[in-house]
This record gives sequence, C-alpha cells and structure tokens, in this order.
Amino acid sequence: MEAKGDIFMDAGLETIIAAETVLSDVNGLEGRLIIRGHDLDELVKHTSFEEVLALLWGGFFDVELSKEDMKARLAIARQAAFERLVLVPETNAIETLRIGFCLSPDGDGLEEAIALVATSAVAAGISARRALGLPPLAPDPNLPQAADLLRMMTGKMPSSAATKALNAYLVTVSDHGLNASTFAARVVASTRAGLSSAAIAGLSALKGPLHGGAPGPILDMLDAIGTPDNATDWIDQALARGERLMGFGHRVYKVRDPRADALRLAVLGLPSSSGRLNYASVIEGVALTQLAKRYPARQLETNVEFYTALLLEALEIPREVFTCVFACGRIAGWIAHAKEQLATNRLIRPMSIYSGPHTKMAA
Ligand code: ACO
Repeated sequence: MEAKGDIFMDAGLETIIAAETVLSDVNGLEGRLIIRGHDLDELVKHTSFEEVLALLWGGFFDVELSKEDMKARLAIARQAAFERLVLVPETNAIETLRIGFCLSPDGDGLEEAIALVATSAVAAGISARRALGLPPLAPDPNLPQAADLLRMMTGKMPSSAATKALNAYLVTVSDHGLNASTFAARVVASTRAGLSSAAIAGLSALKGPLHGGAPGPILDMLDAIGTPDNATDWIDQALARGERLMGFGHRVYKVRDPRADALRLAVLGLPSSSGRLNYASVIEGVALTQLAKRYPARQLETNVEFYTALLLEALEIPREVFTCVFACGRIAGWIAHAKEQLATNRLIRPMSIYSGPHTKMAA
C-alpha cells in the first residue's frame, strides 16, 4: 500500500477485499484451505471431481445435479466438445482451450457451464496427443471426468491409482479464493459478458508463469540441476541473476501451501514415482534453504505448483499441457465465482491515479 497524497494505492490489491464469497477460504497464516465448508485434506480423500462441481455450484443454478447426473451430462458435453475441437487446426494447448471456450455455447446457464468443463478436458486430451505426435482420441461416455481426461491424454485406460491421483489434483485446484485468474473471471462476469468469456479471461491469467504456468518450468529446473550435488550452486546462481524459483512463494500463504502436501500424498500413491520424488524433495529442501538465506525477511515456502509438476509428470502427461490440465480443475471455481458475482453483481471498476502530463493542445 502506497500513500498518494491523501489517498492510498495498492498496486497488487493485496489489502483490498473485492468480494464476499461462500466458495473458499485461503488461510495464509495457518496454511489451511477450506472449499465450501470442507477442509482440503478431507475433501481430497473422499470426493470425486463431479461431486466438487456439484458442491461449488450448489445454489447458483436453477437445477441441482447429483454426482451421477453430473457425470452423465459431462459425458454428453465431452462428445459435443470433441466434435467442435477436433476440427480446430493444431496449435498449443492454451490456444486450443481458448478456442474451445470461444466455440462453447455462451450464456450463464448450467448447460453452458457443463460445456466449459467438458471442453477443458477435451482440449487437454487433444493437445496432449498432438504433443506426442498422435491423433486425438474421442471421449468415452462411460468414464468419469478424471478417468476420461487421463485416457484422452495418455491414450490408455488409466489404472485406479492414476485416476485417483488425477481426481485428487482436480479437486485440490478446483477453487482458491480470489487468485489472479478467478479475479479476472469475476471482473469479466461483472460486465455480464457470459460464462465462456469469464472462462477465457480466467485461462488467459492462468497461463502466466507467476500463476499457473509454473509447473513446466519446475521440471525444466529439476532437469537442469541434474543431481543433488549441483543444487546449491545452480539455485544460488539463478537467485543471483534475480530469477524466481518456480514452485516457491505465494501471495497469501506465508507458510507451506496445504495443496503441496495434498499433491505430494497423491504422488506417493502412484507406483514408480519414488526415485523422482526423492530427488525433487532434496532439491526442494535446498531451494528453501537458499531462499531463506537470500530473503531472510520473506517467508517463501513451497507452493502447489511444485508437486503439481511431479504429479502430472508421474501421470505421463506432456509438460506442454500442464497449465491446460490446471484449467480442467480451476474451471469449476471460475464458473462458481462468475455465478456468485452475478448473484449480487456490482460492476468491478477500480480507480487509477493519473501521473501523465497535462498538455495544452495548440489552438
Ligand atoms: N523465487 C525467488 N524470489 C522470490 C520468489 C521465488 N519463487 N518468490 C518471491 N520472491 C522474491 C521476489 O524476488 C520479490 O522480491 P522483489 O519484490 O524485490 O522482486 C519478493 O520475494 C516478493 O515476495 P512476495 O511479496 O512474497 O511475492 P508476491 O506476492 O509478489 O509473488 C509469487 C507471489 C508470484 C507466487 C512469487 O512468489 C513467485 O513469483 N513465485 C514463483 C512462481 C510460482 O511458483 N508461481 C505459482 C504460484 S501458485 C499459483 O498461482 C497457483
């Protein structure tokens, strides 16, 4: 917060409360995340992604859907999304999804919301296959969203452990207060532009490396370090160049991000991930030590993206698609927030302070 004469400016809006929400509570000092009344730790153990959709969307649409209804409606919507998206020329995963959202039916209803969720999975599936040089796979209407998403991306019927791990990921990232992408979605929703426009705004914010674009570069960092012996030097040099270590630090959490532990547990549930996980844990420890040395006054801890990277890698998902897979989970929250915004809408329109010239035009 910065004083500008007799008013205050807060460039990152971190001291501004811009919405009241029933959707999630991010407690940055205790390292707790509550999603619609449920502690993340509990939710992630017992809930399917379809149930989280029903939970987050409850009360915001005319119809309330059961888990089974949600699964059936998503299966139909994935088929329709595939027919739209398979015709789109090849581009990167984020563009494919952005185009998918553009082509998705616009409006504020449940049907449009389900179409957006289905589109995210289909876009991730098509993009993952294309990244591997393989043709897209059509959705399977008999599978729940997490299993079908994984099948469309990897080309094989996923094991129950793999499905459980991806489901845990989608649930974990489904909502997280007024993060940058959700705020962007709410701003657009506040103009009454419709759910697909709100989703496009959310996705466009998510893509940035300071938000949802971090996991690919985290794997690049782990690869570049190569062995634990190189870690201290490599990290010191990166910090000396003024670089940010991806997967560390958070605007709200001043302690360890609880989502990091939820995802670490999910990775541990996967066979054959232990070697990479052990290596990554060593690098994580070195990074935390070096960050504390360099920025002793800051509390820079591991965030969700570090273990996102390890989880999605263990599931054999190509790195190019990671942010798109993040959107497959976060779309639940973007839609819930857009609907919540509309329920008591006031156009979001902050003020700015003009610091440019006052030039008189020549007569
Ligand atoms: N590596 C190195 N330095 C860092 C890091 C980091 N990961 N995080 C913060 N810092 C330093 C910055 O250099 C900055 O110093 P400066 O202002 O002198 O440049 C200072 O600490 C800022 O600290 P904060 O106020 O705590 O950070 P802020 O709230 O501005 O940023 C952010 C939070 C963007 C997440 C930041 O920690 C970061 O860039 N992390 C790396 C990217 C990342 O992992 N993003 C994913 C976040 S989780 C998510 O969005 C789903």
